Amino acid sequence: MAKEARIIIEEKEYKFPVITGAEGEKAIDTRALRAETGYITYDEGYGNTGSCQSDVTFIDGEKGILRYRGYPIEELAEKSDFVETAYLIIYGELPTEAQLKGFSARLTRHAAVPVNMEHFFEGYPAHSHPMAILSGLMNSLTCFYPEYAANNHKEDLQNFDEVAAAALSKVRTIAAMSYRMSQGLPYIYPRRDLAYADNFLHMMFTEPYAKFVPPPEVSKALNLILLLHADHEQNCSTSTVRMVASSEANMLASVAAGICALWGPLHGGANMAVIKMLEAIHAEGDDGSTFINEVKSGEKRLMGFGHRVYKNYDPRAKIIARACETVLESLGVEDPLLDIARHLEKVALEDEYFVSRKLYPNVDFYSGIIMRAIGIPMNMFTVMFAIGRMPGWIANWKEVASHPNGRIYRPRQVYVGETTRTFVPRDKR
Ligand code: SDX
Repeated sequence: MAKEARIIIEEKEYKFPVITGAEGEKAIDTRALRAETGYITYDEGYGNTGSCQSDVTFIDGEKGILRYRGYPIEELAEKSDFVETAYLIIYGELPTEAQLKGFSARLTRHAAVPVNMEHFFEGYPAHSHPMAILSGLMNSLTCFYPEYAANNHKEDLQNFDEVAAAALSKVRTIAAMSYRMSQGLPYIYPRRDLAYADNFLHMMFTEPYAKFVPPPEVSKALNLILLLHADHEQNCSTSTVRMVASSEANMLASVAAGICALWGPLHGGANMAVIKMLEAIHAEGDDGSTFINEVKSGEKRLMGFGHRVYKNYDPRAKIIARACETVLESLGVEDPLLDIARHLEKVALEDEYFVSRKLYPNVDFYSGIIMRAIGIPMNMFTVMFAIGRMPGWIANWKEVASHPNGRIYRPRQVYVGETTRTFVPRDKR
């Protein structure tokens, strides 16, 4: 295995060290490139650029492998739940009973939001997108908890356990409140006796003065959805969290920025876009064949398909696709969109256009169908992704904040604009 890379620039040879990751990935360490050669690298979209060394999540896109802290996603999906997996991602180890009890107690303690925050919702129009509300209110938590926003890594790390629990617990409460506001319903406060996912469903769907007991298969499905979204290396939103964290901004400001990045339809907004796509196909009476042709002609994009890293099946999509059958069956839900999704997947996986581009279903292709079945409204789908991704954002914020020689993230550019020009007075322009 190469220990160094040699680059010849203008007939001069330069050597740069090679970094080898725990799973054998290799990187050319170009941190001295500009100082030694005057050149920078150019990698629009960062498809070939490692921004950090991380020990949280590993993906092998060619083999369709995903592991959180070394544990295969398939095993966690089968044997763990969201809170236990969140602990694993944030702290690096599966919790003991005592550790899990302490973590859950912190989540319970932080479940409510300051009552003054209820007035924030009075200002939002009922049709406001919940991702706009979520990013705003997550950042605004620092107004109520200034002690969580020292904007000094060392000081903010001293409060890490509390801030992490606040971020993970309150994101769920704010999400539910945004739904209640949109429906003109009174807010339902969190209960101390309910587990994480059940408490969310309670705050979303409990009728006043009624006792809401979520069906076990709904709790299980929601735990699975959140667990499968919990982290995913340096995706667009997690890289955003790290970028903001690198300026020594506090965790809540950093994850609020992550929420904004996740909103886009190419990223977390894809789960909503998939359902809109499937509904449009259904409305046309198409089984998906016509739509596939429109995709191949470049007119449309098959949302929920393709991935920057996975050039094989996204393992999360496989797990969710299987869960779709069991959840819909156990709930007695018939969803024609599932049949269309299945048909699209079958046709795409056999079609040269998709095969040659290594386009497979990603996590968003089936997740919306399960969320529909358990009663999550479509405009909350990306919010569910944000709740699920919170542990990963927290863990990545911590990696940046605790880096011994951390530096602010500040990429270079290649300037292609006007060269020096002389100012001309307005009456002469
Ligand atoms: C998530 O990064 C992560 O880890 C993200 C995520 C996470 O957990 O954080 O996994 C979550 O964001 C999943 C992706 C959700 N987005 C979508 O499903 C939107 C649809 N997918 C695409 O827009 C696209 O595949 C991306 C954005 C996911 C990846 O974009 P890339 O890597 O920049 O790929 P590309 O746009 O350069 O496409 C390469 C080729 C192009 O064709 P050519 O120009 O070579 O002819 O593949 C084509 C694209 O046109 N292509 C698609 C396609 N995705 C890529 N063609 C049709 N439908 C698609 N979905």
